[in-house]
Amino acid sequence: MDDARVSSCGADGELTLDGSVPVVEITGLWTKFGRTVVHQDLNLTIENGEILSIVGGSGTGKTVLLRQMLGLERPARGCVRVFNEDISLADAAHLQQLRNHWGMLFQEGALYSALTVFENIAQPMLELHALPPELIRDAVLLKMNMVGLGPEHANKMPSDLSGGMVKRAALARALALEPKLLFLDEPTAGLDPDRSESFVSLIKSLHRELGLTVVMVTHDLDTLFALSTRIAVLAEKHVIAIGPTREVVQVDHPFIKKFFLGARGRRALEALDTPNDWQDADQSAHNAYEAEL
Ligand SMILES: Nc1ncnc2c1ncn2[C@@H]1O[C@H](COP(=O)(O)OP(=O)(O)OP(=O)(O)O)[C@@H](O)[C@H]1O
Ligand SMILES: [Mg+2]
Repeated sequence: MDDARVSSCGADGELTLDGSVPVVEITGLWTKFGRTVVHQDLNLTIENGEILSIVGGSGTGKTVLLRQMLGLERPARGCVRVFNEDISLADAAHLQQLRNHWGMLFQEGALYSALTVFENIAQPMLELHALPPELIRDAVLLKMNMVGLGPEHANKMPSDLSGGMVKRAALARALALEPKLLFLDEPTAGLDPDRSESFVSLIKSLHRELGLTVVMVTHDLDTLFALSTRIAVLAEKHVIAIGPTREVVQVDHPFIKKFFLGARGRRALEALDTPNDWQDADQSAHNAYEAEL
């Protein structure tokens, strides 16, 4: 690493994957499109192993914030560190190397429509130009199995899959290179309650088994309460509140009141208050919400 490279992050750091530093550290971030300011002095730290959910109204800059963490947007000001590296300093080759350590499930267009399920999942591995075909084949089938897709779906086109299966295949592709960090943008949007619930269980077990750090954007209270270790609320162009669900819902802010304290949110939160065990609380909140649907 070249010591002379200095940015608004200060001196550039070394790639650190062992969890000894925050996985993502954003300080004083400004994002602008022309004269439109999307983020203004935004700060956010994401620790190793957590499931951090980002909530906020439509158009508040949640997807753009993920894109900043992925190096797909550039800060107008401020610093975005991922795995301790200032990603605005990363050139194309270096960014590609960083990308091998994270997976992304996009809000829309989760799969390439012209490629089969198998080809979609194999694609990140093919881009490495280093793996023999047999190994790729085995790895694709393993990832499919991991997300609950049988091998009989390998040669199907995305248009032949249900919404839930498309999400699973996209998740398998996001996990193709065994990332440490997983980004999910509205993972359960468009899924019916049953499929949504089973996708949430899948993410929960993958998080536990693979020791992933997960950064998720969702407006779905059910998904939010079932998965999040912490919630960050995006409003007024920055993070106005961050913490465990119980703390965030008590913050006195119009968006927070509207978002969490509507009929569904209130019911789920009442259930959260009763049991002591967090997992039970998750389940109770989940059940209360399900009962209301
Ligand atoms: N490439 C771009 N050029 C110009 N403006 C953009 C661009 N990308 C995003 N924006 C604007 O930035 C703002 C934030 O967009 P973003 O997609 O992050 O919202 P969001 O919070 O993800 O909304 P939703 O909940 O609807 O997905 C919007 O006003 C959007 O129009
Ligand atoms: Mg979005």
